[in-house]
Amino acid sequence: MTGRLQDKVALITGAGSVAEGWGNGKATAVLFAREGAKIFAADINQEAADETRRLVEAEGGSCVAFAADVTDAAAVTRMVEGCVSAYGRIDILHNNVGGSVPGGPVEMAEADWDANIDLNLKSVFLTCKSALPVMEAQGKGAIVNVASIAGMTYYGSDLIAYRAAKAGLVQFTRGVAMQYVRRGIRANTVIPGLMYTPLVAHRVAGQYHGGDLEKTVARRNDMCPMGHMGDAWDVAYAALYLASDEAKYVTATEILVDGGFTARSAT
Ligand SMILES: NC(=O)c1ccc[n+]([C@@H]2O[C@H](COP(=O)([O-])OP(=O)(O)OC[C@H]3O[C@@H](n4cnc5c(N)ncnc54)[C@H](O)[C@@H]3O)[C@@H](O)[C@H]2O)c1
Repeated sequence: MTGRLQDKVALITGAGSVAEGWGNGKATAVLFAREGAKIFAADINQEAADETRRLVEAEGGSCVAFAADVTDAAAVTRMVEGCVSAYGRIDILHNNVGGSVPGGPVEMAEADWDANIDLNLKSVFLTCKSALPVMEAQGKGAIVNVASIAGMTYYGSDLIAYRAAKAGLVQFTRGVAMQYVRRGIRANTVIPGLMYTPLVAHRVAGQYHGGDLEKTVARRNDMCPMGHMGDAWDVAYAALYLASDEAKYVTATEILVDGGFTARSAT
């Protein structure tokens, strides 16, 4: 451990992963723990949260696994209370939950639009609603939200709700950051590009390539300027910086972790 987050308490949502391997939230939880943070690992899937707890504990870290659906206001309140009761404070709120559903406004069912906006945007509204008063009372806190390049640029997939929600998340985060800028609370966004996480095999391959994982990976690698996707650790290291005191003068901004994807689209 190098202690970049020594003794800080980090509440991480979506701290498991949808399938075997390293999702962004799981890698972030393990990395934060390696840097000395105590982890409150929340996930809608108790088993996924438990898996992260086991990984953290196996390396000598401290972790509580907690089942919560972050689109459910009562569950989010319980989650934040659970973190405070386990560890006494919340230094870092890492909002990692998110995901896409395919379609434009014509094809997408209204219920799918609502659910996707709830998953990617309302979830962060709810966690901030509950956690900000805790951070304000402490006089200190760091919020790190996870958006997506889908909210920055069009890369050929029609994901209208996801694009809108992730773009909205960037402005939501800036708004919170500015509202709390004199109260010791920072808020920033990590914007991942195409990453090779368990989600790719679990959902993306089925969504776009009839379940053909090899084809999906080749296609996604080919789309990236570097010729390959990033991985969960790339996202985790950016989140680590923003969550740490090294970023004490950094707020209301974004770090793109996209291997040049957005810059290429803009040129
Ligand atoms: N993988 C990529 O290529 C990519 C690219 C850009 C952005 N992102 C973003 O990164 C974040 C995480 O991606 P990932 O690939 O690690 O995700 P993932 O799909 O592996 O999900 C992580 C965890 O979130 C949990 N979860 C899902 N819905 C939840 C809910 N309502 N409440 C609580 N937990 C819930 C899942 O059970 C899972 O364990 C998302 O916000 C996603 O939009 C991913």
